[in-house]
Amino acid sequence: TRVLRIGLAGFGNVGRTFVKMLMERRSRLQKLYGFEPTFVFIADSRGVLGSSEGLNWGLVEKALAAPRGGISGLEGGEPGLGVAEALEKYSVDVLVDVTPSRYDSPGEALSWYERVLGSGGAVVAADKAPLATNCQKLLWGSWGKRIFYKATVMAGTPLIDVLRWGLAGRVVARVQGILNGTTNYVLGLVERGMSFEEAVRDAQSRGYAEPDPSADLEGFDIAAKAAIISCTLGVPKTVFEVERLDRVDEDAARRAAEAASRGRRLKYVALVEPEAGRAVVRLVEATPDNPLYRVEGINNAALIETVEAEPITIVGPGAGLSATASALLSDLVAAAYSLGVV
Ligand code: HSE
Repeated sequence: TRVLRIGLAGFGNVGRTFVKMLMERRSRLQKLYGFEPTFVFIADSRGVLGSSEGLNWGLVEKALAAPRGGISGLEGGEPGLGVAEALEKYSVDVLVDVTPSRYDSPGEALSWYERVLGSGGAVVAADKAPLATNCQKLLWGSWGKRIFYKATVMAGTPLIDVLRWGLAGRVVARVQGILNGTTNYVLGLVERGMSFEEAVRDAQSRGYAEPDPSADLEGFDIAAKAAIISCTLGVPKTVFEVERLDRVDEDAARRAAEAASRGRRLKYVALVEPEAGRAVVRLVEATPDNPLYRVEGINNAALIETVEAEPITIVGPGAGLSATASALLSDLVAAAYSLGVV
């Protein structure tokens, strides 16, 4: 059994769900894959809880019971310490980044990745910002083999794995996707008569929306995912280069209700055509023969068109704590493989 030393950046809802899941599954991981996951540090917004030997699970349980921003107040905690300092102090095999996506300032998280990847470690990300702004640097070249990011798109319903590994060597002409759970959920509710405001509040209370829901409604979240898909297919794009033609607002809500009365559904769709260098986000009126028509609630879907064969459709949860955390767990196994730990 080899110990896999993990540093965790971010200890919000997704981070906590991931830690809980890892704690419950650790003997299973050991049995199936032969490695023992150990946290050498956990960082929240205010400080770090760390140990060179690995945090014992009793202390991890205390961290889970601590209030938000409170883990560095526990015994042995280091208030005021940041992730960069933690990476200097504690050597990690894998950095798991579940900090909020900061598209305007991705530099900090990027510098963590550079440090870890540059010293032979691996990165597992749910944070979309570094990849959606610097994918060329991260994915192309030797670092690309040690960075795992399926949690960034479709909450880990494994679209990224399919594009990256399942369809390796093939030519993907087009991916069309419902890639934001919050807006799909909101559009579904307003179709049935709920007010826009109430529907957004509902999505927030269920933990689907980003900490700042305008990232979902204005289309940054779906644009980031479109950029990540384009990069995965070999054509670099940043979140800012994806054309956002529409947003989901009161007006879209009225259009959704009106479309529903005509037997159609308004869907918020990303279109990525790598060969044409195109990535667009827009509202589309789907007719019942469109596979995207039936995608309900927080589900996401992607329609993949290749030049070789009939289209492939992937449907699954696009948001949610357990879905996202389990994608991180799966990528942790992939990271262990990439390091030769498994
Ligand atoms: N806020 C995102 C969504 C979460 O609603 O799709 C998953 O990235």
